[in-house]
Amino acid sequence: MMKTSELIWQDAQHQTLFRLLDDLRREEFDCSVIHQLRLYADHHFCLEEAYMQELQYPKMMQHIQAHNRFREELGQLSRDPDNLSHQIRTSLSQFLEEWLKRHIFGVDKEFEAFVLASSRK
Ligand SMILES: [Fe+2]
Ligand SMILES: [Fe+2]
Repeated sequence: MMKTSELIWQDAQHQTLFRLLDDLRREEFDCSVIHQLRLYADHHFCLEEAYMQELQYPKMMQHIQAHNRFREELGQLSRDPDNLSHQIRTSLSQFLEEWLKRHIFGVDKEFEAFVLASSRK
């Protein structure tokens, strides 16, 4: 069974995602950032989803759907990474950052509370 301290990975991974979104809007930009972002987001989402499955989290399906929308956005982004202007990258980065903040302070927090409550049982 998981312990409270094991939730530390979640915060650390969220920080990495924000850092990659910062990289996305840098003027000097390497298009491998998009690839990294996509892989890392997927890795993070899969880990949360594995925990949800293990704990039989009642709101798992909605949460996975939210992750899938983000996965789709990143999929669109990686179609033609060389032709993204700085302006487009900036607005995409802001859009994804807003999304991530809402997700983290909304459904991720809710899930975290559920994990903490189940670890006390
Ligand atoms: Fe998350
Ligand atoms: Fe999540």
